[in-house]
Amino acid sequence: MQNTPPEIKADGPALIFGGPYSNLQATRALLAEAKRLSIPAEHIVCTGDLAAYCAEPAATIALMRESGIVVVQGNCDEQLGEGADTCGCGFAEGSACERLSDTWYSYANRHISTTDRHWLRDLPYRIDLLIGGRRLAVVHGTPSTINQFIFATSPSDLKRQELDLVGCDGILGGHCGLPFTELIGGRLWHNPGVIGMPANDGTARVWYSLLIPETSGLRIEHRALDYDHQTAARMMELENLPQGYADALSSGVWPNCDILPVRERRTQGFALSPSSVAWTNVAVGRSPSHHTSSTLLWPDVYSETLTSTAPSNA
Ligand SMILES: [Fe+2]
Repeated sequence: MQNTPPEIKADGPALIFGGPYSNLQATRALLAEAKRLSIPAEHIVCTGDLAAYCAEPAATIALMRESGIVVVQGNCDEQLGEGADTCGCGFAEGSACERLSDTWYSYANRHISTTDRHWLRDLPYRIDLLIGGRRLAVVHGTPSTINQFIFATSPSDLKRQELDLVGCDGILGGHCGLPFTELIGGRLWHNPGVIGMPANDGTARVWYSLLIPETSGLRIEHRALDYDHQTAARMMELENLPQGYADALSSGVWPNCDILPVRERRTQGFALSPSSVAWTNVAVGRSPSHHTSSTLLWPDVYSETLTSTAPSNA
């Protein structure tokens, strides 16, 4: 891990997203959305994993590089950069995710250039985003582990330990593929979701976030993005990539839930609603002792559906 992470300063809205996953159509849509919102490349941050499940790793990496946006290294970027044999996602041994990763990872590994490999290898593990008077550490998994899955329902104590470790006002993380925003003792854990796969919510939409500095604090908008998922799925089928992930691009339902905690499993197929939440100045506390409570600001689907059954399309 780096001792002094690179810093970027945003004096206006910042756009955060994760997981392009070789999904060229979604990456194009995200960049078009950023242009529509007039957000400059230096205020756009990706939480990593540029090449993964989908069919166009080289073109996706090329587009990301051309765009000039800020990227932290994901586990797939690290592994591809090193020419490793596996994706390093941290899937359980013998799980369906692990078996499927043999196919998509080896495909990505065959299709990227030596130049791209070097570029991926040199991506920073952490970048600090300075926005609205706050310092936010952007990482892929956690500050301590690149492939650690942190979900909305992961224990707050675990998040608190990582926040203590990093010494910032908050953490912007990726890797798990599902968006959420939580306040832990006045500090932020935010995951914008990914653009390369849907959020397992039964819709084809993918997710990104806007962080908007305001007088009263930082506003965080979870936003859904529509894109040409039919073409992305068709490209996967042409390349004989796992059908379950190709189907997921349109159905919005992941082919398996191996990695998910129980409440995230139970809410498969429940459509998320875009939302705006506030992280007010009075709630900020970089000191571990400032506040002790934790609040999941979004989504509310986990508490609402804890005892529900999944909808029929799940
Ligand atoms: Fe990852």
